[in-house]
Amino acid sequence: MSLRPRPEIENLEPSPHGGLNQAELKAMGLTPEEVLDFSVCANPFPPPPEVNKALESVSVNRHPDSESTEFRECLSRKLGVSPDNILAGSGATELIRLIALAYFGAGDSVLVPEPTFGEYKVACRIAGAEAVSQWSEENSFNIKIAETVEQIKQNQPRGVFICNPNNPTGHYLSGQEIEAVLDACEDTLLVLDEAYISFVEESWSSLDLTERANLVIVRSMTKDYALAGLRLGYAVADKEIIRTLRRVCPPWNVNTVAQKAGIAALNDTDYLEQCNREIKKAKHFLVDELKRLGFSLLPSETNFFLVKVTSAKDFRTTLLKQGILVRDCTSFGLPDYVRIAARTIPDCVKLVDAIREMRCQ
Ligand SMILES: Cc1ncc(COP(=O)(O)O)c(C=O)c1O
Repeated sequence: MSLRPRPEIENLEPSPHGGLNQAELKAMGLTPEEVLDFSVCANPFPPPPEVNKALESVSVNRHPDSESTEFRECLSRKLGVSPDNILAGSGATELIRLIALAYFGAGDSVLVPEPTFGEYKVACRIAGAEAVSQWSEENSFNIKIAETVEQIKQNQPRGVFICNPNNPTGHYLSGQEIEAVLDACEDTLLVLDEAYISFVEESWSSLDLTERANLVIVRSMTKDYALAGLRLGYAVADKEIIRTLRRVCPPWNVNTVAQKAGIAALNDTDYLEQCNREIKKAKHFLVDELKRLGFSLLPSETNFFLVKVTSAKDFRTTLLKQGILVRDCTSFGLPDYVRIAARTIPDCVKLVDAIREMRCQ
């Protein structure tokens, strides 16, 4: 018997991500605790203190609330949108998959301006749709909105994924630029991934745009609130889109612990601002120090940025031997760039020292 998966996914490979690889660390004789991780673009501080208290009050013997009711109500008050416009997800990644499952299928093309987060293409492939990469004609790594608008007008794809601010570049598009994309979308769904929006120094609010029937905003709470291990995110969109996504959403998709932690995190009104103040200082410190060492950096409006190196793979491996992890951007199509996310200032000092030492060898 030859049992084969659907042809669309037969050769599908998982998208590489930053973060620790247990097997690799073991082979290098390192434990996860010994590694300073600059490869994941998350808040380096512990989650809001109330999160731990909330975790102690959770009953894990019952099913989670399938609708994440309390969490959505809490978000609703915070964002000023109705709970009916919100779907909770087990991380933004689950929501991206649900969107593809609900809206994209065989014969559809979905536009993906690159370089960007690898999960969009994976989600399209799983759904059976074709992800069409778009690199800027100017060979710059920033999305050129005029080119994206032109592509949408010409080809009317079924969907378009835009990551704002973009991973891995940190480039942030304006409200006018996103509106220009939406204006070009007739029967095209715009998926606006704002996983890193909390880290943008001067952000604009996209929420009003969800009055349009062809926009879905995806946000993550794993990065800003430091809840990566719990998996939590949400989508905001027109009620009809949320209703559609619910049809394909597994029951109990957000576990009870994540729901409670999310509520506790949202209720801490000072946390993000306090963390961001420190992250901003650390980022500026890193940028200045790396420039002083002669590196060329791409301007970024968020907590991470790209650094030009000779070989990202070698740069990463050499640093990892010293217990420091950066993101090799080869999988983004950028083999001579690493992505570095700001951590605390003392951690950043260690990174700069390690790079300085590496360059002296
Ligand atoms: C742009 C972008 N969107 C979404 C995600 C996934 O977020 P989550 O951890 O909430 O699944 C990531 C994580 O790397 C990301 O970089």
